[in-house]
Amino acid sequence: LAAAAERVAAEFEYSAQDVNRGVQEFMREMDEGLGKQGATMSQIPTYVTAVPNGTEKGLYMAVDLGGTNFRVCSIQLHGNSTFSLTQSKVKIPQELMVAKTSKELFAFLAKQIETFLKTHHNDHYVNHVEKRRRKGSLFEGTHDEEVFHLGFTFSFPVQQSGINKGTLIRWTKGFDIKDTIGKDVCALLQKEIDALDLPVKVAALVNDTVGTLMARSYTSPGKTGTLLGAIFGTGTNGAYVEKLARVTKLKKVGAGKQDVDDSTGEMIINTEWGSFDNHLSVLPNTPYDKSLDAESNNPGIQMFEKRVSGMFLGEILRRALVGLIKDPSVPLFSDEHSNQNDVHSTTNIHDNSPLWSQWALDTSFLSIASADNTAGLKNTRQTLDSDYGVSAPSAEDAEAVRLIASAVGKRAARLSAVAIAAVILSTGKLQHPTDIATTNNATLEVNEDEVVDVGVDGSLVEFYPNFEEFIREALREVEGIGKEGERRVRIGIAKDGSGVGAALIALVADRAMRASS
Ligand code: BG6
Ligand code: GLC
Repeated sequence: LAAAAERVAAEFEYSAQDVNRGVQEFMREMDEGLGKQGATMSQIPTYVTAVPNGTEKGLYMAVDLGGTNFRVCSIQLHGNSTFSLTQSKVKIPQELMVAKTSKELFAFLAKQIETFLKTHHNDHYVNHVEKRRRKGSLFEGTHDEEVFHLGFTFSFPVQQSGINKGTLIRWTKGFDIKDTIGKDVCALLQKEIDALDLPVKVAALVNDTVGTLMARSYTSPGKTGTLLGAIFGTGTNGAYVEKLARVTKLKKVGAGKQDVDDSTGEMIINTEWGSFDNHLSVLPNTPYDKSLDAESNNPGIQMFEKRVSGMFLGEILRRALVGLIKDPSVPLFSDEHSNQNDVHSTTNIHDNSPLWSQWALDTSFLSIASADNTAGLKNTRQTLDSDYGVSAPSAEDAEAVRLIASAVGKRAARLSAVAIAAVILSTGKLQHPTDIATTNNATLEVNEDEVVDVGVDGSLVEFYPNFEEFIREALREVEGIGKEGERRVRIGIAKDGSGVGAALIALVADRAMRASS
């Protein structure tokens, strides 16, 4: 059994050479995406041209669709890099993720906003309803200040055409509602909000990575600013600060000065790196990756995400385990009975075990198994027994599972490093402002102005054991980064960042609107 498990684990090895090939191809695809529409990596211009500095103030709302939970929050920005957040979370019912019409989903979201307002901002809500009753029409008689400006974190690829306008390019992460494709998701949400007559205006459309980047800049404004906001959760993606002049496709589609505030010379780009290398020129492709993709609802798409993020890692592990279970020469989860010249085994897996069902192995199990240091891997054995329908797994069974789970998780972290390294190298951040040579002394503290800041969020980076350490190990192997460069990379969790980030973008939009009226 041990040898078989090692053989499968070895299929997930991702060498230093692989990492470096990956980085080169990633940088090529980043460039390609900046230059043309419809490239593999979308490199979506967000129209956000400045990051906050911590002094912003005000009360805003945000909703967040696309992670483990749908969240509604109100955020009080205090203006001193701190904020207070009130939030409610709810899991999106599975049937709404694949609903027949957009209306079903967006009406549900609006209903959650209404419940949130009634629970946490009832005065505001009642006031509005009273005025509305007197005046008769929505927003009439309601001063603009009394309307909540809402940042909509919508964590899917959207072709943005303005700060609160954007059409859905494709669904990802298990959502599949055909009639939303090509529609403006802000308008869909506003329509359902208006149907409930709520004092809420969708002021900004934000990807979770952009929100994470904004939140990180607000809460830890360093001398060099934050370069990248990245999500390693249900899905994976990154948004980074790019020079406007390099976003050459903006000129090609004729976006003029009226659309883009070019005063900072920069713009945040949503890479949509989940789609990196969809054509599989450098990504690893084990039999488990292949069958997972073939049986997914979007084959050939989000190929990087399918190897990196939480929605898929459990399924990769499940497929690898099922491969071993079905191999009669490998005694995984089985009791061996031998008589004279015959060895046969009885399986200890129940017929209704989640191990037999697609998507039923939760990625949190990878964390449990990889982190298990209990005697005889008791935690892993217990979880296999209680959650996965395996009776009395042995320590050897658990060790095999732990080995493969760790290999799947480590490969994901090393692939994540490819994306982070490519963004750092392609933006030339390590070249500024001091020369790398000045940090050669290993005992030397990294100066604040040499830091390359990265804000991250998501269940994988938060809970998978040593995820950041594995990323760092791989960063050190990247040519052009190495040990010296890796020390300058600061990775910090921007917890629940996208809610705060969305509020910040709603604030920027609000200011711009007031300035122009
Ligand atoms: C949350 C953000 O903290 O992290 C979401 O608010 C984001 O916007 C999420 O999508 C990602 O993590 P997960 O694990 O919930 O997908
Ligand atoms: C998916 C989405 C992307 C999002 C990421 C993380 O990749 O397409 O927009 O940022 O998941 O939630």
